[in-house]
Amino acid sequence: MKTIRFPSLSLSRRAVLAVAVPAVAVLLAALEISSAPFAPSPLPDRIVANWTASPATSFSVTWRTDASVAQGFAEIAEASDGPSFEKNARRVAARKEAYTAGGRAAHAFSVTFEGLRPSTEYLYRVGDGGESWSEWIPFRTAADREEPFTFLYLGDAQTRIHAAWARVVRKAYETAPDARFLIHAGDLINNHDRDEQWGEWHAASSWVQRVIPAMPVPGNHEYGRGPDGQRRLTVNWRAQFTLPANGPEGLEETCYFVDFQGVRLVGLNSNEKLREQAAWLDRLLAKNPNRWTIVFFHHPLYSGARGRDNREVREFWQPVFDRHGVDLVLSGHDHIYTRTRLVRGDGAREGGTVYVISVSGAKMYEPDERPQFPKVIAGTQMFQVIRVRGDELSFEARTARGTLADSFVIEKRGGGKRLIEK
Ligand SMILES: [Fe+2]
Repeated sequence: MKTIRFPSLSLSRRAVLAVAVPAVAVLLAALEISSAPFAPSPLPDRIVANWTASPATSFSVTWRTDASVAQGFAEIAEASDGPSFEKNARRVAARKEAYTAGGRAAHAFSVTFEGLRPSTEYLYRVGDGGESWSEWIPFRTAADREEPFTFLYLGDAQTRIHAAWARVVRKAYETAPDARFLIHAGDLINNHDRDEQWGEWHAASSWVQRVIPAMPVPGNHEYGRGPDGQRRLTVNWRAQFTLPANGPEGLEETCYFVDFQGVRLVGLNSNEKLREQAAWLDRLLAKNPNRWTIVFFHHPLYSGARGRDNREVREFWQPVFDRHGVDLVLSGHDHIYTRTRLVRGDGAREGGTVYVISVSGAKMYEPDERPQFPKVIAGTQMFQVIRVRGDELSFEARTARGTLADSFVIEKRGGGKRLIEK
């Protein structure tokens, strides 16, 4: 064999190493990133549905791809039993937001389907308009009037999300597959920008959350210091959810409301701007045509865990809840289940609000026995199934294995309100 002399052979060994070692390091880093858990790909993942402020005629979907997908599309058609629905699908171009999470470039895509028919079954899919699509996903719009429905509520997932939280989501869906949305009362993850934790959250729940819209509010763990040292909401929040931007300025997609079949649902952000939200809520509830009002936020008004208190939340918000007869308040943060009777902060006897704290993840705190709590459950992963039917709201708290652990009914008759404990 003829020997070829490469000019590079005349380079010193040191020079060769200087070029080769960084190149190998870059290659290894690239391999590690692409094989890292929950890395984005051209295929849509982290698909989440969200309600808009008009749930009878529209809804939003958000998903993620890697940065190779330049443009996203979604398609929607009225559902049929055979495959013929695809012929009637209409296509919507997605909004694109480039973001970096976990050191990886990703594209967040979102669409809002508009002009839909109330109480109608659709099928939708999301993708790149070419080869990479999600499956066709069933979705039902809301009724445009008061009508009975069921929804789910979960407290903090936060830690060991993939290992320990996924089973709770599965059991919740198994118990109430007809749920019309799923409230997450904050602390979905533990470290705000840690993308692999969000990866766990989506792996555990996105198969449900693409069918049953998520209604999340941020907890303290969705906040952390950004590169400039300022405390801010995780970049994943607005990249991953498309929530109504109908709250106070500066709190877009973290403070919002949806009127759903006779219930006004209000998500508040208990991390910041409490005073502004009190004023906003006061105005919002002054004109409320719905029979029921349910408010959800992370930091509870009556703490359930030992040595904890959120005095400011109580001082700013409870007078508004009292004034407008909020029926039910759902929170998290204390890693325990506690539930009050109908209580008011101003001591008046009529009306009142039931305050619930719950936990769905594996992190647990010691209980604080308070006279306000007829029910305290410690050390137990829980989910809640809530049914609203005319003048009756029934609430079931179930354990991770589905066992009924607490249940009550709020009944509204003749302008009054009463609690029936089961
Ligand atoms: Fe918390």
